[in-house]
Formats: sequence, C-alpha cells, structure tokens
Amino acid sequence: MCDSLKKLPPGVELETKRVLKQLAGSHRALAELKGFADIIPNKNILINAITINEAKDSSEIENIITTHDELYKAMSRENYKSSAAKEVVNYRTAVWHGYKQIKEKEFLSTNMMIEIQEFIESNRAGVRKLPGTVLKNKTTGEVIYTPPGSEQEILSLLANLEEYINNDADSVDPLIKLAVIHYQLECIHPFYDGNGRTGRIVNVLYMVLKNLLDSPILYLSKFIIINKTDYYRLLQEVTVQGQWEEWVLFMLKGIEETANETLTLIKKINESLKNTAEEIKNVLPKIYSRELVDLIFFEFYTKIPYIEQGLGVSRKTAAKYLSDLEDAGFLVSEKVGRERIYLNRELFGIVKNAGENRG
Ligand SMILES: Nc1ncnc2c1ncn2[C@@H]1O[C@H](COP(=O)(O)OP(=O)(O)O)[C@@H](O)[C@H]1O
Ligand SMILES: [Mg+2]
Repeated sequence: MCDSLKKLPPGVELETKRVLKQLAGSHRALAELKGFADIIPNKNILINAITINEAKDSSEIENIITTHDELYKAMSRENYKSSAAKEVVNYRTAVWHGYKQIKEKEFLSTNMMIEIQEFIESNRAGVRKLPGTVLKNKTTGEVIYTPPGSEQEILSLLANLEEYINNDADSVDPLIKLAVIHYQLECIHPFYDGNGRTGRIVNVLYMVLKNLLDSPILYLSKFIIINKTDYYRLLQEVTVQGQWEEWVLFMLKGIEETANETLTLIKKINESLKNTAEEIKNVLPKIYSRELVDLIFFEFYTKIPYIEQGLGVSRKTAAKYLSDLEDAGFLVSEKVGRERIYLNRELFGIVKNAGENRG
C-alpha cells in the first residue's frame, strides 16, 4: 500500500448532497463561536484555557495520559517530574508557536509543520529519513498501513499538500479541505512520532488561516477520543476503499459538535471573568484593576513576579495584592519550593469540568 498514496486533490466529487447539508450546520456553529470569541476583550485567556484541554486530549489519543492536577503542577513548577505532563505542556507551546506564525505569514508551510512537530517532541528529528514506519492495528498488531518510505517521496507529498492548503483556486469549501488535509497528512506520516498531534494542530491553524476563526480555540480531539474507533476506521476506509464521504462527514460533524461545546465553555469562562471582576471591585476596591483580573485569569495560577511585571508594581505590592485576593477567597495558594503559587480555583474547575465531561 505504500506506493498508493496519491497526490491531492482527491479525484472524486467531495461536495455531495449529504456533505453539503452537514456543511451548513458546521459553518453555522463555527460562525457563532467565532462571533462570540471576537467580542471577548482578552483572547489570550481563552486560548490558554481552551488549549490546555486540547493538549491533554490530543495527547491522550496517543496514550500520553495526564490529569489536570498534574498539568497544573507541570506548568507552574520547573523540573516537574512527569514527562507526560511536560509533553502536554509542549503541545500547547506548539499551538502558540504555530498560531503566531500563521498570523504573521498568512501561509501554512511544510516548515511550520516540521517546527510544530519539533515543539511537541522537543527534538529535531524532522522528516523521516529511514524506512520501517508502519501503522498497526492496536489490538491485533497487524500492519494496516505503510506510509511512504523515502524522504524524497515524503517531501514531494508534503510540497503537494502545502500547495493544496494554500491555493484556493479549486473553490472547494475550506472545511471539506480540512478533512482532506488531515487525512493526507496522517497518511504521509512524515515523522517518526507526533504525526497525529501535529495533524490536529494543523487543523486549527488551517481554520485560522482561512479566517474561519480568529484564535486557535476549536479542537476536535475530544470528539476524536469519544469516537476513536470511527476515527481510525474512517481514515483507513479512505485508503482502502476511497470512501471519502464518510470521512468528510465525520470531520464536519466533529466541527459542529465541538463548536457548540466550545461556545458553552467560553461563555462560562467569560461569565466567571465578569463576575470575579465585579466582586473584586466591590470587596477590594483599592486593589481592583481590569489588568489585575486579567492576570489572575491568564493561567489557572499566578505568581508574585507575574503580577509585578504585569502591573509594573513592586514585589511587595504584588505580594500584598495576591494575599488580599487569597484572604477574600478568590485564590488559593500553595508553597512550592521557595515560591508561592496562587490557583484560580474557579477557572481551574470550569476548564477541568469541560475536559472531563465526555459526552
Ligand atoms: N489507518 C490510518 N491511516 C492513516 N493515519 C492513521 C491511521 N491510523 C492512525 N492514523 C494516524 O496516526 C496517528 C498516530 O501517529 P503518531 O506518529 O504516533 O502520532 P502521535 O505521536 O501524535 O501519536 C493517529 O493519531 C492518527 O491520526
Ligand atoms: Mg505516537
């Protein structure tokens, strides 16, 4: 099967009746999400909160399992011991890196994909140079797919994919193209490891590239976990039977469902942000500022130096703000080594709940 991966575009009609019908729902949900996210003043807060769940879920598909509590530790402490949690934090760094690149260059290149994979894996192995990579059925161990083996072939297929991603002369709907791109990238399987995760980051970057989203906040990994067997089966059925329609429908359905769920989540985060701001204004009017509230929502946790730098105040003042916020019940602190870390428990709870709620 290794020499059968064809260059894009697929030589079949993708815009079938069923696909077009589902496409309308997917676009509607996505547009609603984009519209709501666009009016939220501090987008970094959303991106950080949502991307951490995605990093966790996307890694879980690859059996890199961690918990929100571990993640919180890995994020807030240097040299935290869990390698799984570190890999998940790397995933989020990879998303941020890719997002900045897309905004700056308005182009999604092969090099960016290679960089994303490097961030995820923290190594510079790059595109596969040695043959021998195969995809196996997880239960039986049987080889089900052999991706292209030579570096030259991989690079040529990636160049073709890059052209397909960036050139819209074909006028095919971008959400349909997204499904095609994800399939193709997984089948090229250009890296020794990290292909699934890189591909799922490329999905969101592609939506940003095509202005379907302004920020990287829509991720299919949770949907994929819930429907993992279908995900693998449908990828394989494109290869074996040329069954594009079911694959495209699967991805479009994932976009619709996830956009609806993400909208609910960002409404909750926004609500919590607004209420907390109101309460701090009432209870601690002397220290209240919009910037302070944003800082305690930037991550699940904050530290004195972040407040010091973020507000341009002295260390002493920053420490006082945080202990006042803790006394008033907005934060809960914990001593880690010589440092004190302040957790925004409400935000942490919202994000964790959304992450754990699996259908
Ligand atoms: N039959 C298949 N055809 C094409 N791609 C597949 C198939 N089965 C699984 N995949 C893809 O391969 C990914 C796993 O590849 P891998 O390099 O280990 O990525 P990661 O380290 O991110 O897991 C899966 O997440 C999926 O996207
Ligand atoms: Mg892997």
